[in-house]
Amino acid sequence: MIVLKSEREIEQMKEAGKVLAACHKEIAKLIKPGITTWEIEEFVEEFLKKHSATPEQKGYKGYKYATCASINDEICHGFPRKVALKEGSIVTIDMVVNLNGALADSAWTYAVGEVSDETAKLLDVTKTALYKGIEQAKVGNRIGDIGHAIQKYVEETGFSVVRDFIGHGIGASIHEKPDVPHYGLPGKGPRIKEGMVFTIEPMVNVGSYLSKMDTNGWTARTIDGKYSAQYEHTIAITKDGPVILTDQDGE
Ligand code: MF3
Ligand code: CO
Repeated sequence: MIVLKSEREIEQMKEAGKVLAACHKEIAKLIKPGITTWEIEEFVEEFLKKHSATPEQKGYKGYKYATCASINDEICHGFPRKVALKEGSIVTIDMVVNLNGALADSAWTYAVGEVSDETAKLLDVTKTALYKGIEQAKVGNRIGDIGHAIQKYVEETGFSVVRDFIGHGIGASIHEKPDVPHYGLPGKGPRIKEGMVFTIEPMVNVGSYLSKMDTNGWTARTIDGKYSAQYEHTIAITKDGPVILTDQDGE
């Protein structure tokens, strides 16, 4: 069942999204060679506390941390660690913020110092793919239109789209219906309706789209060891089109 949200609920999720966007903007300033993802984790905990918000991922299905911090070939659900980030690496920081019971979810991939041309292209393509998906998130379209736009664009660049992890509805809890794959066929899947709130969060790989699970039971990696990037926004569907609740360019 897809739970539609009221304007008031969407406003509250937008407030959570503002805190999350502001947190990402601070993380962007912190990322440099030598910093550890454990320090980012501690920064996020402090930042959320200061803004009267809480990290929804902590304790979710047994996950222990406020952030997922996925480095290089890690696709998603990397654990924050006390290992220094190296020049040329990339790191995806993903988190869900709870502000007065309202949730927002956003992931962003950061370059550590100077990265290779191929890595810079990966980040650019992945972010553009997210916005291509968002463009399709409008009343009258179907969920398949989002995934199709993302997959078509990404595959034209020579990169691949992860199949094993997808976007999702979000509301009272992190994961609700609908499922939002980042691949698929136009005109397929549930109709997009006013009041839906869901994430679009393409994970894009330099090589194969296949993933393998780490022995920690959480972290997914690329099977070929090549880099993977991800950008994620929480989107509300209004009659005037998609509204990005986790936009970093807003006020
Ligand atoms: N933020 C993730 C997403 O985009 C959810 C992480 S689940 C957790 O779907 F268990 F790792 F917290
Ligand atoms: Co997320």
